[in-house]
Amino acid sequence: MASFSIFLFSLLSALLPTVLAQTWTSCNPLNTTTCPADPALGSNATFKWNGTMADSKIWNTTAGQVQWTTKGGEFIINGRGDSPTIQSNFYIFFGVVSVIMQAATGQGVVSSIVLESNDLDEVDWEFLGGNTTHVETNYFGKGNTTSYDRAIYYPVSNPQTTFHNYTVHWTSAAIEWWIDNNLVRTLQYADALGGKNFPQTPMNVRLGIWAGGDKANSNGTIEWAGGLVDYHAGPYTMTVQEVYVQDFSSGKEYSYGDMTGSWESIKITNGTSKAVAEINSPHGVSGHWNALSQAVRIAIVASAAGVAILSLLTIIFCCVKQRRAGRREYAEIEAQREKEAAEVLEYKQRIANSRH
Ligand SMILES: *[C@@H]1O[C@H](CO)[C@@H](O)[C@H](O)[C@H]1NC(C)=O
Ligand SMILES: *[C@@H]1O[C@H](CO)[C@@H](O)[C@H](O)[C@H]1NC(C)=O
Ligand SMILES: *[C@@H]1O[C@H](CO)[C@@H](O)[C@H](O)[C@H]1NC(C)=O
Ligand SMILES: *[C@@H]1O[C@H](CO)[C@@H](O)[C@H](O)[C@H]1NC(C)=O
Ligand SMILES: *[C@@H]1O[C@H](CO)[C@@H](O)[C@H](O)[C@H]1NC(C)=O
Ligand SMILES: *[C@@H]1O[C@H](CO)[C@@H](O)[C@H](O)[C@H]1NC(C)=O
Ligand SMILES: *[C@@H]1O[C@H](CO)[C@@H](O)[C@H](O)[C@H]1NC(C)=O
Ligand SMILES: *[C@@H]1O[C@H](CO)[C@@H](O)[C@H](O)[C@H]1NC(C)=O
Ligand SMILES: *[C@@H]1O[C@H](CO)[C@@H](O)[C@H](O)[C@H]1NC(C)=O
Repeated sequence: MASFSIFLFSLLSALLPTVLAQTWTSCNPLNTTTCPADPALGSNATFKWNGTMADSKIWNTTAGQVQWTTKGGEFIINGRGDSPTIQSNFYIFFGVVSVIMQAATGQGVVSSIVLESNDLDEVDWEFLGGNTTHVETNYFGKGNTTSYDRAIYYPVSNPQTTFHNYTVHWTSAAIEWWIDNNLVRTLQYADALGGKNFPQTPMNVRLGIWAGGDKANSNGTIEWAGGLVDYHAGPYTMTVQEVYVQDFSSGKEYSYGDMTGSWESIKITNGTSKAVAEINSPHGVSGHWNALSQAVRIAIVASAAGVAILSLLTIIFCCVKQRRAGRREYAEIEAQREKEAAEVLEYKQRIANSRH
């Protein structure tokens, strides 16, 4: 009986995080004025993941599970289909995001830091496991992927074996990418198609790992990722020690005043953000699902009664549904990433050909 309880408990804990993660809503404010407002951060916050797990009221796990260890949040590919991903519930409207992390090794494995808005403005860092000398920076405005010259690679020393500080400093005038204390790239507003392609709407923070070199992906993506992933040589682990976020705006929520996607159209609702309220609450840091899994553990251990099992099955049923939904969302995100990767490659080939 005891081992059955343990089995149920591990099964349940494997499924829990996705229960708490909410379905990703794809409401594009460029198409409708009825999208829900974006919850703000509205302040500064440091999330130290080398000792505490992420608070699930502040960070949603949208695929797989992150392992919380004394080294940091570990995003691990153990086998095919693994792609743990987490995203902030809060948005910032201009600000700073510093991630202290070590990228994953492994040909074809992509570690990523992404800032993303609801109308698909995007600022990226991408680390290819097979490339120990460079990191890719990229950006997109309003989901426009029709120009392929935005990705630029910069030198960095041993990103897979050394923790570095990758910082984005974002204002309405320019975006800066910093590696440790060095400014590597600046994108001026006007240089992004006169501002049209300049990321300028409230963005959340997404961290994750994925197999760009999975054999099911397009050749372009596999080539961009550096080749096929060898799943037997894993696991491949991206480790995030700390995330610092500073929101240059303060308030409770951000909403789109019209369908232009311009920063001038963004409305700020005054008040204390949910994220700040959660950070300041007594149970803020250690997180909600710590307590929940404790309760679940007690429930399981305390009773072999049918009631417990029945409620468990209900939860599992709901989890399976949620996981399926999660996988669908992930597939959408991955399809988008693949498209971008293929386009970058095509662009590079065009440049290479035009030189001959
Ligand atoms: C928004 O509208 C454009 C065309 O106007 C369409 O291509 C796009 O798929 C729409 N996006 C969403 C999320 O509805
Ligand atoms: C956020 O950090 C900046 C820079 O350290 C500081 O100037 C500012 O006062 C901080 N804001 C809040 C709300 O803590
Ligand atoms: C966590 O990482 C920070 C640096 O980001 C370091 O200063 C601190 O000592 C680490 N804490 C633990 C418990 O390892
Ligand atoms: C993340 O999940 C929490 C509940 O766990 C929910 O309150 C929140 O709205 C979700 N946020 C997003 C952006 O999905
Ligand atoms: C790493 O990326 C840089 C920039 O794209 C490239 O020049 C270099 O050849 C790559 N290294 C490997 C091992 O792929
Ligand atoms: C998308 O970007 C390309 C290249 O910068 C530009 O030529 C095109 O007009 C843009 N499309 C839109 C809808 O802004
Ligand atoms: C990360 O780098 C940025 C830019 O150089 C710097 O302002 C910040 O203090 C650094 N953070 C840490 C924790 O070292
Ligand atoms: C992808 O590459 C493989 C091996 O090089 C080749 O056999 C296949 O035809 C390519 N597929 C496409 C769509 O280019
Ligand atoms: C929000 O706060 C700002 C600054 O504190 C103030 O100027 C503005 O009037 C407030 N707006 C509303 C709607 O209360």
